[in-house]
Amino acid sequence: MKTNTSGTMLTLRESTAGHHRRAEQHEFQQQFVRGTLPRALYVRWLGQMLHVHAALEAHLDRLVARNLQLKSVFDDSRRKADPLRKDLAFLGAATDQPALPTALAMMAWMDTLAETHPLAVLGVLYVLEGSTNGSKFIARKVRPAYELPANGEGSAYLDPYGDVQPVRWQEFKTAMDALNLPASDVEPIVAAAQQTFDSIRELGAELLASQAAAA
Ligand code: HEM
Repeated sequence: MKTNTSGTMLTLRESTAGHHRRAEQHEFQQQFVRGTLPRALYVRWLGQMLHVHAALEAHLDRLVARNLQLKSVFDDSRRKADPLRKDLAFLGAATDQPALPTALAMMAWMDTLAETHPLAVLGVLYVLEGSTNGSKFIARKVRPAYELPANGEGSAYLDPYGDVQPVRWQEFKTAMDALNLPASDVEPIVAAAQQTFDSIRELGAELLASQAAAA
């Protein structure tokens, strides 16, 4: 069996660097990190991410139930649907906002992925878990912009781990590499990660377009 000698996480990082750059540079993320994204869009974005994470967590639960060693990369402490619901409730927003076409497409794509390459769902997890690296900085801009408290209420999704975020990310990286996945498993995981970056960027574009259309 051909193993992935350079390490799953290094492969993921290197194969998605351009996708990260494009996602980060998109206008939606730029407004986010500058603290200029309108509050209404922040709330709608949380609502869409709730759809994505709820679907992802259901797939991961099924995957972990069949492969118990995957508990090292996904357990209850990595769940984001609950923090998202709490943020929305704190902001006085509905937790059942209708899913936009991009979120619906992402959910349909994850369903297919889970059928064809179940392990590839880890690529989606990689991107969203890794996004805590940047969203920690975004949270610092978002709190004053929307007058959110420093205790994290209303921004728990962006900064779920607080001071231990770097430790939690290192743990994730170590656990992923320790799975020693063969290259034949890493390839679909990388493709799923690339697709996830593109979908999240598209979601931001869709939210901005919907705001422009409403103006
Ligand atoms: C303004 C927006 C963003 C900023 C400023 C930002 C910033 C960062 C930073 C500073 C890191 C850590 C780099 C390192 O330690 O080597 C990082 C890593 C990462 N970010 Fe972002 N990011 C942004 C948007 C996003 C978005 C939208 C996503 C996902 C959709 C994302 C996913 C990731 C992932 C997966 C990693 C881990 C990369 C690795 O494998 O090391 N980021 N980001």
